[in-house]
Amino acid sequence: MAEDVLAVSHPRVKDRIALMRSAHHALSVLVDMAAGRLMFDKKQAKTNRRALIKATRKIPERFRNNPSDPASNAREKIWDNWGGFKTHAQSANQKAKLINTRNLGKLRQSLQPMIHACLSCHKTYRKPP
Ligand code: HEC
Repeated sequence: MAEDVLAVSHPRVKDRIALMRSAHHALSVLVDMAAGRLMFDKKQAKTNRRALIKATRKIPERFRNNPSDPASNAREKIWDNWGGFKTHAQSANQKAKLINTRNLGKLRQSLQPMIHACLSCHKTYRKPP
């Protein structure tokens, strides 16, 4: 076991990280389709779009509490600027809704703003791991 890697222990922190990982998983499937690594499949695309809508909607409730966990990469800024954090979460949720799964071209176009919304929040509110 690597001693230098801190394990997340607080259940609430585990929950919010699990939420982020589920968003990451759903997004990865869509990105792989857009990049041609995975065959475009409308039904699968729709399922993952829905997973992203659901996951991004849950962000504020999963982060509302601020339990101390040294292994977390969340910045204090989240709770110092809760309104700003929520705005980022809402924007990500809106971009998830705007993902268009009608065909590959539409998916490619609509995925960019989604990716940008994830990165934009991380840039401000997440410590680089
Ligand atoms: C409103 C802000 C916000 C948005 C939007 C957001 N994230 Fe995050 N994300 C965070 C924060 C904060 C953390 C660090 C959480 C922690 O370590 O406690 C994080 C952590 C992660 C992690 C690391 C989890 C781990 O294993 O430690 C992944 C992966 C991730 N986010 C993916 C995504 C994806 C994909 C999206 C877009 C669909 C997204 N996030 C949107 C704030 C956000």
